[in-house]
Amino acid sequence: MATTFTPRVFSGIQPSGGLTLGNYLGAIKRFVDMQADEFETIYCMVDLHAITVWQDPADLRRNTRELCAGFIASGIDPEQSVLFNQSQVPEHTQLGWIFNTVARMGWLNRMTQFKDKAGKNRENSSVGLFAYPALMAADILIYHATHVPVGEDQKQHVELTRDIAAKFNHDYGVDFFPVTEPVIEGAATRVMSLRDGSKKMSKSDASDMSRINMTDDADAIAQKIRKARTDPDALPSEVEGLKDRPEARNLVNIFAAMDDRSVEAVLADVGGKQFSEFKPMLADLAVAKLSPISTEMARLMEHPDEIDKILDRGATRAREIASPILKKTYEIVGMVGS
Ligand code: TYM
Repeated sequence: MATTFTPRVFSGIQPSGGLTLGNYLGAIKRFVDMQADEFETIYCMVDLHAITVWQDPADLRRNTRELCAGFIASGIDPEQSVLFNQSQVPEHTQLGWIFNTVARMGWLNRMTQFKDKAGKNRENSSVGLFAYPALMAADILIYHATHVPVGEDQKQHVELTRDIAAKFNHDYGVDFFPVTEPVIEGAATRVMSLRDGSKKMSKSDASDMSRINMTDDADAIAQKIRKARTDPDALPSEVEGLKDRPEARNLVNIFAAMDDRSVEAVLADVGGKQFSEFKPMLADLAVAKLSPISTEMARLMEHPDEIDKILDRGATRAREIASPILKKTYEIVGMVGS
């Protein structure tokens, strides 16, 4: 009979600086929602993933604390959820090594995030950037996590995690790792650039006008939305009317996700309006939702010691779950020792 696993959510974000509205709507806001469900929730600042591309040490320290502040300011309760940074829980890298031996070169060669990040510079990319998805699988499976909320761009990595779990179980003749479900839901699973509706909103885009940062003030948010690229037509009343209008679709998706409504419900309200009327509505909503978060983040950042304490405690709790799972994995693989 198949093993039943505790419903458990795991997800992670890289502390590589500059949280965007994409991170918020595609990930953090969903993490907060799942905290209220029947799941155990574990959220991680994946600093070991961040260093697969160069990070200045002082920046990494600051960005890790800022990300933790962002989680808490958005509504992650560090008592209810386990909140920690990856490098403090060595079981991730220990299981990651085992998964390096399970994952196949061909599988990793197909990963689009590696291709995007390495670009033409493949020969000069770090080995860690290539092996990145095996460590991500370890992040998830060291907790036997059953559900992983992520944005659309991480789907391929979660699918690889499923392949690794299945191959491990098959090769060792066990039913030990769950085949984890990606949870990619809601109106904003892929928030696009404000300057180009065919490109993902990203912290690495050269233009700051392409994204809303979680630390932007009200004026910056309003200005970026006012200047966002659109088309000349009025908004449609039905979802079909957004077809072939990527910029319009993006702004409506952002509005819906931020207001916890479906795209259909939003269009029923705003259909027929011009962007000159819709953009100020969106800007007001974005400011109302994001400013309390950025204010709270700034307040929390004044107390880095408190943040470090929260991370320490989170790591202790994380290890309580991870350590027996690693021990059992070693036994399955045939490692000698206690
Ligand atoms: P990262 O740090 O690039 O992004 C963190 C989360 O934000 C989501 N996201 C978006 N969602 C919608 N629209 C966007 N424009 C957008 N930009 C980012 C991402 O999909 C992600 O959910 N590999 C992961 C980190 C990771 C991880 C894990 C995630 C490491 N281990 C284990 C889940 C489980 C990453 O680079 O995310």
